[in-house]
Amino acid sequence: MADVVLGIETSCDETSAAVLVGGRGVRSPELASLVILSQDVHQVFGGVVPELASRAHLAALPRVVDRALAEAGLGWSAVDAVAVTAGPGLVGALLVGVVYAKALAYTGGRALIGVNHLEGHLFAPAVEDPELGPPFVALLVSGGHTLLLDVPVWGRYRLLGATRDDAAGEAFDKVATLLGLGYPGGPEIERIAKHGDPARYTLPRPMRDEGFEFSFSGLKTSVLHAVRASGDLARDRPHLARGFQDAVLDVLVTKLERAVRATGYPTAVLGGGVACSRTLAALAAERLKGLARVAVASPRLNADNAAMIARAGWYRLGLGERSDWTLDARADLPLPGLEWPASPAHTPHPTSP
Ligand code: KG4
Ligand code: ZN
Repeated sequence: MADVVLGIETSCDETSAAVLVGGRGVRSPELASLVILSQDVHQVFGGVVPELASRAHLAALPRVVDRALAEAGLGWSAVDAVAVTAGPGLVGALLVGVVYAKALAYTGGRALIGVNHLEGHLFAPAVEDPELGPPFVALLVSGGHTLLLDVPVWGRYRLLGATRDDAAGEAFDKVATLLGLGYPGGPEIERIAKHGDPARYTLPRPMRDEGFEFSFSGLKTSVLHAVRASGDLARDRPHLARGFQDAVLDVLVTKLERAVRATGYPTAVLGGGVACSRTLAALAAERLKGLARVAVASPRLNADNAAMIARAGWYRLGLGERSDWTLDARADLPLPGLEWPASPAHTPHPTSP
């Protein structure tokens, strides 16, 4: 068992490193440090520019890693293993982290473990809560994914439903653009929705009342029509943001509740960038009251970060898993242990946007 794990995350536009300190017989390791550098080069483009992301990771990663070690008060010799995001994500961005991690592991004779970014998001609440564990239902909502999972044990992920089109975070980002707000859109929409009248726009709740699948592209089109019909976007912006946010969160939480009732599990985990939304966490807690405990990490652990990668890596290292020097970055890396429904009516690929 590795005692000290260095985590590295570069799958999108955050350059991050973290140090976890475990030890023999320890059930859950302690987070000794976490450094996250959010790239701001993308802001003026209204979205992440892959080539710029790779370059920025390359420039920043060595310093981010050094800083994480310094904040943990540890030298290089203390590090037993390196856990790195190997996918899914932007392949050029991922490659920077993977190549750097391999070099660190090889030169120091350390263990190397490639981690799936989505499995990292699932482990995020466990970084802060050592008691957190399966069985649970997980709603994984980020810029690229919307997955509802039945997790009977760590490492076994039964897919209940995914999105047929846009991911939840992607819908927030696109609607933010329609409303003339900045990137990323989720936090901007949550901020201005606080000033919106919930009764002003009642937008459709796609697929809310059936099954576990999601669809957000029609809702986005409804916002587009409402923006065109508005005539005074400055006046209607907070109301539109509120109407949109209420619709998305209602769909997400209704399906989460359905999954909790179907499984009978005592815990529901929210993960991924959209789980940074305090409004989502509060709505889930309210609707699942008396039914299940809602576990959600603090926002810095729900946004892309290396602590969750180190934690998922720590789990895999504990199983005796290691990556070898052929470890490669994969844009569409499938979630390990993902199980598909027995007779799916429609099964979109869970790693496709
Ligand atoms: O997990 P993440 O940091 O990156 C990916 O792996 O995709 O998720 C980023 C997504 C963005 O789409 C962003 O708009 C969304 O998470 N997000 C939010 C909030 N904060 C971030 N969506 C809704 N409300 C928020 N407060
Ligand atoms: Zn993510």
